[in-house]
Amino acid sequence: MSDARVTFALEDVQYLYNRRNLALDGISLTIREGERVALLGANGSGKSTLLKLLDGLISPSAGRMSVFGEQVDTLDDDSDAAHRFHRRVGLVFQDPDVQLFSPTVGDDVAFGPLQLGLPLVEVRRRVEAALTQMDIMHLRDRAPFELSGGEKKRAAIASVLSLEPDVVLLDEPTASLDPRTKWVLVNLIQQLGQHGKTIIVATHELEIVPIVADRVLVIGENRRVLADGPATAILEDRALLVEANLIHEHLHRHLAFTHSHEHDAGHHGETTVH
Ligand SMILES: Nc1ncnc2c1ncn2[C@@H]1O[C@H](COP(=O)(O)OP(=O)(O)O)[C@@H](O)[C@H]1O
Ligand SMILES: [Mg+2]
Repeated sequence: MSDARVTFALEDVQYLYNRRNLALDGISLTIREGERVALLGANGSGKSTLLKLLDGLISPSAGRMSVFGEQVDTLDDDSDAAHRFHRRVGLVFQDPDVQLFSPTVGDDVAFGPLQLGLPLVEVRRRVEAALTQMDIMHLRDRAPFELSGGEKKRAAIASVLSLEPDVVLLDEPTASLDPRTKWVLVNLIQQLGQHGKTIIVATHELEIVPIVADRVLVIGENRRVLADGPATAILEDRALLVEANLIHEHLHRHLAFTHSHEHDAGHHGETTVH
């Protein structure tokens, strides 16, 4: 890929867990520098697997993939998948407890820059910038385990931001957060995008999509890209969203005269509709 502004280019990428469980089947996509993309798909459609591929944690089982213009090898053994692009891409895991392991939030946010061997002055600058960006300066000396879900999430994002990646991948960032906390986080993610970073958010919560993304990639239940287009167009395509199991036809009829915010698949499982 000669275009330097192409961040990710995937052609017909497959991924199999343990060489037999097909998680992604023939994914082709191009993501350019500075894009804000939502990766939509029902549970089990392969969103987390795709983010792990983009982060270099795993390598394609088949197909071609390039990151920042460099070809990524198809490896049989993921233990070797330490790619050079790794530092330029940061993944915020769905479960913040995976990302936070230090005695204090400040230590967690400093961990990455310290690993890079940066001078202490620079480490301190990055920690302060990341904590400020996530609006959690006041949590700096707190233990991660005593934080609320939303605070943990912001600390986990800060621990990725301190590496100053060009690309931030977020896996279901609003899962299991109460509504107020969710919208605080969504606004923080929106601000990240406005700072020129490439943002890819995996979610099945349709209501957050217009705020965090301009473009939507829908992964179907067949683990292939079902649609790729502007967020507004995709969110209006009810038939497509039903096909991807992101909204339910029956529920949609019932909610048609209430708010659009109640249309997402994240709620329909547990909400009783009257
Ligand atoms: N570690 C794993 N080992 C085997 N299969 C897995 C593993 N992780 C995910 N899968 C399978 O891969 C498919 C895609 O999963 P995942 O990427 O987690 O989807 P999503 O994030 O969209 O819910 C699912 O069928 C899931 O069961
Ligand atoms: Mg997932």
